[in-house]
Amino acid sequence: MNSSKAYVEKNQKRFINELIEILKVPSVSADPAYKKDVIRMAEGIRKSLEDAGCTHTEVCETPGYPVVYAERIIDEKLPTVLVYGHYDVQPADPIDLWDNPPFEPVVKKTDIHPEGAIFARGACDDKGQMYMHVKALEYMVENDDLPCNVKFMIEGEEEVGSENLGWFIERNHEKLKNDVILISDTGMIAKDVPSITTGLRGLSYVEVEVTGPNRDLHSGLYGGAVANPINVLAKMIASLTDENNHITIPGFYDKVEELTKEERAKMGEAPFDLEKYKKALDLNDVYGEKGYTTNERNSIRPTLDVNGIWGGYTGEGAKTVIASKAFAKISMRLVPNQDWKEITELFKTHFENIAPSGVTVEVKPHHGGQGYVTPITGIEYQAANDAYHEVFGKDPIPQRSGGSIPIVSLFEKELGSKTILMGFGLDSDAIHSPNENFGIWNYLKGIETIPFFYKHFTKLKQES
Ligand code: BES
Ligand code: MN
Ligand code: MN
Repeated sequence: MNSSKAYVEKNQKRFINELIEILKVPSVSADPAYKKDVIRMAEGIRKSLEDAGCTHTEVCETPGYPVVYAERIIDEKLPTVLVYGHYDVQPADPIDLWDNPPFEPVVKKTDIHPEGAIFARGACDDKGQMYMHVKALEYMVENDDLPCNVKFMIEGEEEVGSENLGWFIERNHEKLKNDVILISDTGMIAKDVPSITTGLRGLSYVEVEVTGPNRDLHSGLYGGAVANPINVLAKMIASLTDENNHITIPGFYDKVEELTKEERAKMGEAPFDLEKYKKALDLNDVYGEKGYTTNERNSIRPTLDVNGIWGGYTGEGAKTVIASKAFAKISMRLVPNQDWKEITELFKTHFENIAPSGVTVEVKPHHGGQGYVTPITGIEYQAANDAYHEVFGKDPIPQRSGGSIPIVSLFEKELGSKTILMGFGLDSDAIHSPNENFGIWNYLKGIETIPFFYKHFTKLKQES
């Protein structure tokens, strides 16, 4: 038996309990009401890194929430792994749909997790996955098995666009110098199908506001005679995709990287069960861009989705009213080569162009970021591949994800580093949803696997 496995087995109860304590802190970055908790969480993470064996730890102030930095440098001549993760979480809403309160973690057995899963906001995204790295370090330090230098950069604003992490990185190039960035903030295909995330989509997030009359009006006295901003917004949104679910914004696809037949065929070999997929979501069918499979639609193709839409009367009963304004929040997931700032501009111009007279529209860009692709030919991929192989007894499958971690492309630009994404989450973890959970099996497997990455990466780096 390899020794990280033995160490994990011996310490699993404590590892689970420590994670449960972290999950009790409602570090919701989006809602200022939780400000104290977010800041308290940063200090908690710093302490846990110190306890795990980091010789220098800091809570670094930024114009927003702090970045936790920690390191254990054993020899300047050895390679350095920089671990990135986030201690902030998504809001728990809608709270009513949780079976247990989101910040009172419980362990429950499920069909997928007969060993139990921890249910709490942030269990998988990203506290559970980030904490695997803290415990993996503890193992390596305790067992004299740390082969290289390690640095941690754990931020508190990932779920709101990492706006100040760029600020922090720009000012700390020397401190953050590394040979590879290691992240667990993605998923794997299944418990018996390890995979490495080789792509992340970019993102452009905008909010739109359609204004009609200068006040809410009686829908009988004015209905039919003036533009109803909600009707207009609905039509405008509907026109953003055509009957094939292609996006109609001029220029939107200009830079989209088209995969070759061979690349698409290779992608199609990854295990995927469409019937199970539909069943897990209680859907009678899937839906998406014509000409592409479900796996392609949510990874190599760009998309446009309304994330929220509101206006008018939504309270109890009926109120006859034409609202003065209507709003929507829209996200566009982007693929490599699409530039998020350019796409945001294209959206803005188009949305203003299609507004009928009788209303005015305003487009407010929120945050965004570029997509990312990890080459599978680099030593970092090889090292991760070998790590999974040692623990799972088979090679992991490279898989592009539909999600976004915008900061990853910035790491490459600012620090010149490649990122390797060793995710241990499953689709059933319900990240960002009610009843988010993280399988205990996945959590412990992650802790067991991570030290092998350090071992193989150090070896390959020294040979290269
Ligand atoms: N960890 C997720 C991203 C993710 C999850 C990528 C699963 C791949 C697989 C991250 O915390 C996240 O939610 N990112 C946001 C973007 C951010 C700018 C708010 C997203 O993808 O919506
Ligand atoms: Mn995350
Ligand atoms: Mn997230």
